[in-house]
Amino acid sequence: MPESVKDANPGTGAVTAGPAALLEAQGIARSFPHRNGSVTPAVGDINLSIAKGEFVAIVGPSGCGKTTLLRCLCGLLKPDSGKLRYNGEPVDGVPDDVAVVFQEYNRSLFPWLSVRRNVEFGLTELPKPERRARAEEALQRVHLADVPEHYPWQLSGGMQQRVAIARAIATSPNLLLMDEPFASVDAQTRMRLEAMTASISTELGLATLLITHDIDEAVFLADRVIVLSPRPSHVVAEVVVDIPRPRDALEVKAMPRFQEYRRLIHDVIVNTESSTSATADSPVPARALGTQPERSA
Ligand SMILES: Nc1ncnc2c1ncn2[C@@H]1O[C@H](COP(=O)(O)OP(=O)(O)OP(=O)(O)O)[C@@H](O)[C@H]1O
Ligand SMILES: [Mg+2]
Repeated sequence: MPESVKDANPGTGAVTAGPAALLEAQGIARSFPHRNGSVTPAVGDINLSIAKGEFVAIVGPSGCGKTTLLRCLCGLLKPDSGKLRYNGEPVDGVPDDVAVVFQEYNRSLFPWLSVRRNVEFGLTELPKPERRARAEEALQRVHLADVPEHYPWQLSGGMQQRVAIARAIATSPNLLLMDEPFASVDAQTRMRLEAMTASISTELGLATLLITHDIDEAVFLADRVIVLSPRPSHVVAEVVVDIPRPRDALEVKAMPRFQEYRRLIHDVIVNTESSTSATADSPVPARALGTQPERSA
């Protein structure tokens, strides 16, 4: 866990990664106007930051604006308000060293390109031998070095998602954003993909932002778990997971501390949902910070 995470500010909803922040979002909001004049407020007011090499997970109820937030954070979607800085510079479009993996791998891979050519897709400016070498290395990291000439439709769902991850890491990103990347695969495959993601992020020193519905997955993988309120979303809790990486899934999940974290996050989500449903879309004061269940809101 980066030292600077201890700078997290419990009073304001601002979650900071300190001076080493790679990505910093302040007051990000995004709504979607409709033709009939109504507006869907998706992201309410989000403050967060990610340090270099840090693994941050975001959990939140369905439809609270997680994908919208991710699209804003990587420069794919312009927020209505707020400040977004990457490496200290204002974000205007997707920075070169930021990669994104989406949930729907079957829509993100090109079916007419081989696995290798899919992975090489973002590397067209490189000379062919380097492109080839980078793709091979990335495919080795996701344990797919033996199927470079296959096509995506010849692979299982988990394998296709591994190709999508290989394509992302082949570009040598400093920040990897993942939007529920394992939601469409079976439980066993999911466990394997989680372990693989953990190793890749740790070995490459890659800052990673993972959006997930799965509290266990968030606690197992992340240095920090950020909990969002229902729509329009804001940060209701930041939980620092004080378990050193690399982590072994079976060992970590058997730890009493792991159970405490998952219980804490679960309670925050339930409390927030019940207080929010009572007050419609009004701001939710509940907020928790820390590693002890009794410190939850
Ligand atoms: N392009 C769009 N146009 C209009 N409304 C949108 C658009 N994208 C998202 N929304 C709305 O914004 C809200 C948040 O959507 P978003 O997909 O960001 O939520 P989410 O938390 O990712 O949901 P899920 O958990 O189902 O993945 C929803 O009410 C959705 O209908
Ligand atoms: Mg989503």
